[in-house]
Amino acid sequence: MQVRDILKMGDARLLRVAQPVQQFGTQALHDLVAEMEQAMQKAQGVGLAAPQIGEDLQVVIFGTGQANPRYPEAPVVPKTVLINPVLEPMGVELEDGWEGCLSVPGMRGLVPRFKHLKYKGFDLQGQAIEREVSGFHARVVQHECDHLMGVLYPMRIKDMAQFGFADVLFPGLDSNSDD
Ligand code: NI
Repeated sequence: MQVRDILKMGDARLLRVAQPVQQFGTQALHDLVAEMEQAMQKAQGVGLAAPQIGEDLQVVIFGTGQANPRYPEAPVVPKTVLINPVLEPMGVELEDGWEGCLSVPGMRGLVPRFKHLKYKGFDLQGQAIEREVSGFHARVVQHECDHLMGVLYPMRIKDMAQFGFADVLFPGLDSNSDD
């Protein structure tokens, strides 16, 4: 199976509002998720949304179930396939954090996100998922679900002075791959 290309910012397909998945457990849905996993692994990302490979569907994947060497202090995020997600912020507290995106290669920006939130959705088989999360996990979910609304993280940056090339912002950091 050829690894699918990840679309880059500027591609109009990244700006669509994605369609909900209607049927769960299908071969087509399994194949889509397998292709997303492959593309994410190849790019060493921590998450990926279906629109990033040009599929107009509400499907995101994130988490590895293992500590990420690039975010050693971050709690482990379980490997998750989340379909037709709904996010509910818990409280109004926002937290700034640096983000990157596989569709915006080589860049980093400081983005405010809700610190705590509840998310709901479905797995590949249509089983309900419901979690309350905080911090890094909450940030990853918000970043990925933004892709389903046609929003890329640079659109969320409040201070454009806090946006730049990863190797300039963080010189000496051994890995400059993107999320
Ligand atoms: Ni992204």
